[in-house]
Amino acid sequence: TDIEKGTYPHFMLKEIDEQPFVIRRIIQKYQDDNDQIKLDPDVRKAMTECDRVYIIACGTSYHAGLVGKQFIEKLANVPVEVHVASEFSYNMPLISDKPLFVYISQSGETADSRAVLVETKAKGYPSLTITNVPGSTLSRESDYTLHLHAGPEIAVASTKAYTAQLAVLAILAVDTAQAKGIELDFDPMKELGIVANAMEALCDQKEEIERVAAEFLPTTRNCFFIGRSADYYVGLEGALKLKEISYIQAEGFAGGELKHGTIALIEEGTPVVALATQSNVNYSIRGNVKEVAARGANPCIISMKGMDQEGDTFVLPEVHELLTPLASVVPLQLIAYYAALHRDCDVDKPRNLAKSVTVE
Ligand code: AGP
Repeated sequence: TDIEKGTYPHFMLKEIDEQPFVIRRIIQKYQDDNDQIKLDPDVRKAMTECDRVYIIACGTSYHAGLVGKQFIEKLANVPVEVHVASEFSYNMPLISDKPLFVYISQSGETADSRAVLVETKAKGYPSLTITNVPGSTLSRESDYTLHLHAGPEIAVASTKAYTAQLAVLAILAVDTAQAKGIELDFDPMKELGIVANAMEALCDQKEEIERVAAEFLPTTRNCFFIGRSADYYVGLEGALKLKEISYIQAEGFAGGELKHGTIALIEEGTPVVALATQSNVNYSIRGNVKEVAARGANPCIISMKGMDQEGDTFVLPEVHELLTPLASVVPLQLIAYYAALHRDCDVDKPRNLAKSVTVE
């Protein structure tokens, strides 16, 4: 590859560090000279004319879709379903009168997602691809494309593409809301600028995060991630990052689901990473932390400034509540990175995995 690591030991670390710049680039690319959102008018039309959005994706891009659903529903008032691409054809939902299919894919080459696109195209449904590679198969074959502008992502573990996907989805949601005449008390470009600064501050705290990883995950067999609402979705992504590069068995759970089964797995010293960035669920997730701690777990609490409590492991700088996943995922990416590093794993090229999965 002609992309260089420069002074970085791994592409993954370089790509984590690039995130603040990627977010700033997205702000620039999606803004006109009057600081208004600049977006393909055809995409705007497709978003305002549809009665339901169907997001199709795999892996990390699927996790971005889960957060994107919240953006689009809360801001633009359009119902959204999110589907794992490989499951879609078996469990094809009833399709609304005016669907819009949104494919989220870093590479634009994922075969599972393409198979759904082929199927929905054959039925005549419109499609939008959100991708980091505009000339890719999914981009060429769908009606519209939104570009992530994240720059080439080389590490198998996706990092900057995820946060770029969230940023573009937030902008798309606000643009749709504006087109529909919905008044919002949310300036996406300003808030994304704050996110970029928060990310930069987080990237400057690597030593602290490395210490957390070294303390929580040196020899552990498993690790759980809990959260509620958006924190739950970020927990899923944190667990995927950790399992794919460190080979620690990791699972993300909704805090409320613990008592329905998962809590049986908690043993003395089991690491549980809890996210607490959402004010409406802060009380409940703290309750979950107490439950697992009482059963011997070793909790690692990542909270957001303003919601932090004494004894939290790591406190994130404050960002807008809708956008917390863009900030809270950064320490999880770094925890996965350092856990893999300390276990002598091949960070950029984990076993059994390919960067783009071009077979179904
Ligand atoms: C992420 O770390 C993974 N390596 C993987 O889940 C990836 O997100 C998935 O294969 C989807 O890829 P895409 O975004 O290129 O479609």
